[in-house]
Amino acid sequence: MEVVISTTPNEAGRLAAEIIQELLGRQPAAVLGVATGSSPLIIYEELGRRVTQGALSLAKARAFMLDEYVGLPADHPQRYRNVITAEFIDKVDIDSAQVYGPDGLAADLVTACGAYERAIADAGGVDLQILGIGTDGHIAFNEPGSSLASRTRIKTLASQTRTDNARFFGGDVEAVPHHCLTQGIGTILQARHIALVAFGRRKEIGRAQV
Ligand code: F6R
Repeated sequence: MEVVISTTPNEAGRLAAEIIQELLGRQPAAVLGVATGSSPLIIYEELGRRVTQGALSLAKARAFMLDEYVGLPADHPQRYRNVITAEFIDKVDIDSAQVYGPDGLAADLVTACGAYERAIADAGGVDLQILGIGTDGHIAFNEPGSSLASRTRIKTLASQTRTDNARFFGGDVEAVPHHCLTQGIGTILQARHIALVAFGRRKEIGRAQV
C-alpha cells in the first residue's frame, strides 16, 4: 500500500488519472471500478480533459459502479446511474452500455445482487477500483461493522451517511433513501488495484467512527 499526501485535490486527481492512463495504455480493455460521491469528481474531470486532448481513450474499457440507492425513480438526478452518467460517462469516451451498476429498482433485489456479482466475475474482475470513504469510514456503502467477506447485498444506510448525503438532496435528509445495494468489502478487495481518495479534515483518521 502506498499513501500519497497531496497538497491539493487537483494534484490527487492528476495522480489518480495518471494511474488510470498508465493502466489503459497497457490494457485498453481494462475493467474500472467507479465510485460516486464528491471525491472522485476531480479524477473524472481530469480523465475527461485527457480524452478531449486525445491523450487517453476509454473506448474499449468497461466499468462497474460500487453501489446504488434502492427505490429512487429511474429519472431521479441522484440515482447513482444518473450521477455516473453525468459525471463520468458523459466526460469520457467510454461506451455507456459497458458501464454497469447494481439495479436498485429490481423487483427482486437479492437476485439482482447475485447477478451483479456474476457480471463482475464474468468480466474477469476489476483491474482498478476508484474509491472514496465516508465520514464514518464506509467504503462503498459498507457501513461500520460490515463483514470483510461481504458480497453485493442490500444494506441500510447509517444515519450519519444519510445526513452527509442530504447535501445532494437539497439538504433534505428525509429525501435520502434508507437502503442501497452495495458491492461488499470482499467484492471490492478482489480488485487488482485500488486507488482511494479522501479530501478534507472530516476524513482524517481518528475522526471517522470506524
Ligand atoms: C459512493 C460511495 C461512497 C462515497 C463516500 C464518500 O459510490 O461508494 O462510499 O465514496 O460516501 O463520499 P464523498 O466523496 O461525497 O465524501
